[in-house]
Amino acid sequence: MRVLAICGSLRAGSLNRKLLDAAIAMLPAGLEAEVAEWRDVPVYDEDLEAQGMPAPVAALRARAMAAQGFLIATPEYNWSIPGGLKNAIDWLSRKPDGTQPFAGKPVALMGATPGPGGTTHAQSHLRQVLYLLGAQVLPPPGVFVQQAASRFDDAGAITDEATRKAVAALAAAIGKAVA
Ligand SMILES: Cc1cc2nc3c(=O)[nH]c(=O)nc-3n(C[C@H](O)[C@H](O)[C@H](O)COP(=O)(O)O)c2cc1C
Repeated sequence: MRVLAICGSLRAGSLNRKLLDAAIAMLPAGLEAEVAEWRDVPVYDEDLEAQGMPAPVAALRARAMAAQGFLIATPEYNWSIPGGLKNAIDWLSRKPDGTQPFAGKPVALMGATPGPGGTTHAQSHLRQVLYLLGAQVLPPPGVFVQQAASRFDDAGAITDEATRKAVAALAAAIGKAVA
């Protein structure tokens, strides 16, 4: 069993990448994670799609189709989903052969921000998009990491117990959902 782990930030020091890696480390035995590569996915353009799926999209789609579920950690940009992540999901929502990778699959959502908001807006918008795509987004409580800069050590380990427990619970829940 495998989940595709998607980080909504490409930044080298991304707090969300730390969160994603921490969650991957807590997945139950037997559940693997592959980190999605979407840096080279072009801006969606229907004319481009008409020429065939661009190679980075085809590669991402193949990995998403092969996964039994998804683990997503995303920042919030301007109270919503980062454009790059939304763009990648828009590509994945296309059905060149009548299928799309989110249909019927469980998705665990997380988010981290240095501010106080916990990415609640971004996660609620993402939940709405994934609902349309037929994904089974795991129910609350979820993982909303506020003041995230102070919650990881230099090695990326979670430093506070409440965050560690919330991430562990989500990792266990996605493990159960894909089993
Ligand atoms: C364009 C932009 C918009 C942002 N808007 C929000 C926001 O609405 N809410 C929030 O909590 N943080 C916002 N931030 C701050 C991000 O949460 C912060 O940069 C965070 O570290 C990004 O995630 P990362 O560390 O995984 O790269 C914004 C950052 C950028 C670059």
